[in-house]
Amino acid sequence: MKKKFNVIQVGLGPMGRIIANLLLTRKNINLIGVNDIDPKLIGKKLSELPEIDYETDITIDSDLEKFLDKKKIDLAVIATSSLLKKVAPLINKIVKFGCNVISICEELSYPYQDHPELSKELDKLAKSKNVTIVGTGINPGYLMDLLPIIITAPCQKVSSIRVTRMMNSAKRRVSFQKKIGTGLSVDQFHKKISSKEITGHVGLTQSIQMIVAALGIDYDDIVELPPKEIVTEIEFTTSYGEKVPKDYVCGLQSKAFAKKGEKEIIILDFVAYAGDHEEYDSIEIEGTPNLHQKIIGGVHGDLGTSAMVANLIPIVIQAKAGLLTMKDIPIPRNTENIWKK
Ligand SMILES: NC(=O)c1ccc[n+]([C@@H]2O[C@H](COP(=O)([O-])OP(=O)(O)OC[C@H]3O[C@@H](n4cnc5c(N)ncnc54)[C@H](OP(=O)(O)O)[C@@H]3O)[C@@H](O)[C@H]2O)c1
Repeated sequence: MKKKFNVIQVGLGPMGRIIANLLLTRKNINLIGVNDIDPKLIGKKLSELPEIDYETDITIDSDLEKFLDKKKIDLAVIATSSLLKKVAPLINKIVKFGCNVISICEELSYPYQDHPELSKELDKLAKSKNVTIVGTGINPGYLMDLLPIIITAPCQKVSSIRVTRMMNSAKRRVSFQKKIGTGLSVDQFHKKISSKEITGHVGLTQSIQMIVAALGIDYDDIVELPPKEIVTEIEFTTSYGEKVPKDYVCGLQSKAFAKKGEKEIIILDFVAYAGDHEEYDSIEIEGTPNLHQKIIGGVHGDLGTSAMVANLIPIVIQAKAGLLTMKDIPIPRNTENIWKK
């Protein structure tokens, strides 16, 4: 008989709901329970949420240990925060029960450089329990790190890598539109970015760290520039009904690069703003040969992230133990037809 992977999900914000909705459709996955600390969600039926398209008896619960005690969970998906210091206590608790973890926490996608001690602790704990911890997502986790790493495989020589994401943020979830400053005045945008009330995009530095580690690239410095606002030339209404006047923020550009001497050897350029403009994901390798890959239309970030999580479940469960990154696990791919061994 085909066996399913038993999974729980922690965090049912906008992104968590998209992931849960996909997990419910996967015939190889058994979503056992969902956990969130938001008092407005606790006790509700998962299928009551407007983003959930399928009938299920699952109720949103705040007691994580209740699920873990059942000892039959293969993996927990965490979608709660971008910051590793907030996600690490959850990972700790889950791994101690002998359960694998996938999180879309951006800082977990390549934690070794900015959180060396915490990374060592998590790695040691995961190995002692023979489970795997991986940070993933569309970006960081795939489009601006793993994919360019893989595209260098047929190059005899690589001199530089430039990755550009160009997206229409109006198609993304509301929490994404808000964290990139949509609807703010330019002054408010800078104040909220400086006070960290909004984060902008998180993960460019981690993506560069993963690329240089994977390719063994020698560099002097990794620099992430402060996000630059993009303002609208015409008044428009957001997908959540808010009017954005002319000259107010409709998105941002975030840029990071690795330098060797005066040369920028890795350049990541992330552009997200509301507007009917071309969308694409582009990777340009300068080397032998020069390579240019362009995904016309781009990958939708929220749908792509949910697919990365669902597809990684069978892969992470079978990967070696420890705190791994996307470059360390067996080839990520669609796994809707892969069953538990
Ligand atoms: N890597 C990638 O490509 C990628 C892609 C998309 C999103 N992300 C990241 O994924 C995270 C989730 O996205 P989102 O838009 O859904 O965020 P969100 O709106 O902040 O939702 C997070 C949810 O998790 C809950 N939560 C927080 N701490 C918790 C805990 N300790 N235990 C259980 N639940 C907890 C929150 O409850 P409260 O509201 O009560 O705190 C909220 O319901 C964000 O940090 C986002 O940046 C990464």
